[in-house]
Amino acid sequence: MVVDANLGLGGHAQALLAAHPSLHLVGIDRDPTAIERSTARLAPYAGRTTIVRAVSDELTDVLDRIGRPRVNGVLFDLGVSSPQLDEAERGFAYSYDAPLDMRMDPDQELTAELVVNTYSAAELTRILRDYGEERFAARVASLIVKERSKQPITSTKQLADLVRSAIPAATRRTGGNPAKRTFQALRIEVNEELTALERALPAALDALALGGRVVVLAYHSLEDRLTKQVLVARTRDTSPPGLPVPLEAHQPRFRLLTRGAELPDEDELARNPRAASARLRAAERIREG
Ligand SMILES: C[S@@+](CC[C@H](N)C(=O)[O-])C[C@H]1O[C@@H](n2cnc3c(N)ncnc32)[C@H](O)[C@@H]1O
Repeated sequence: MVVDANLGLGGHAQALLAAHPSLHLVGIDRDPTAIERSTARLAPYAGRTTIVRAVSDELTDVLDRIGRPRVNGVLFDLGVSSPQLDEAERGFAYSYDAPLDMRMDPDQELTAELVVNTYSAAELTRILRDYGEERFAARVASLIVKERSKQPITSTKQLADLVRSAIPAATRRTGGNPAKRTFQALRIEVNEELTALERALPAALDALALGGRVVVLAYHSLEDRLTKQVLVARTRDTSPPGLPVPLEAHQPRFRLLTRGAELPDEDELARNPRAASARLRAAERIREG
């Protein structure tokens, strides 16, 4: 049994089910539209799939509920899906004008509009700096606070224009769309993406049966760094230094399957330009415990 912790449109799930005729797949997504579409796509495999609307950090509970706490694989394909980006009204994209929403789960309360209009300048600065790696975080945050004192910031275009005006002209000419980093930061905050990964990845490793594998596809450096930290920590021998023999209890339970992060090759990029930022890391359980 394997878990697809970011089911999306079910593309990976379908490929796995087609390639392994006896495989049972548990698919998780927090977005009801993704659940609806992947359910339709995976209908031919309905007898071998369990589709659950949940946040990936609920993995342990989901597996307990279906009575299969140990699995042979967990796949994470992090971040937003193409439909989430391409459907203007979801408010993820700076290239369309739409309400500032960015929720993967439309039933949750926190939206990008709420973040932008209610967080303090200090909180906005921290988010833009930590989640967007925005050099001009403080400038963008103070302009947001100034603008919202005149009128609420409610649309993606309004925010994208504001960010553009906060970034110095010389920088604007070089680094792509200046709103990209701010939009990434808001999306991560609204959906608590890094917090979810921080909890879900250890839960996935814990759920692996002997020989089972976790594979993570990350799309920006923050996700990839966090993935690397968790996998490196779990694949390290923790014996105190200087012992004549390694202690069994301190031997790693997992081994890395990738050296560094694997990147897409030219063929894949030609077929799928959105794979450009993908970074793949994987680990395998080699000991119980
Ligand atoms: C990149 S897409 C996955 C695409 C999918 N692998 C496919 O082949 O169609 C990421 C999906 O993960 C979902 N997602 C992101 N973070 C999540 C989380 N913490 N818990 C559950 N679902 C999440 C999003 O709603 C989105 O549908």
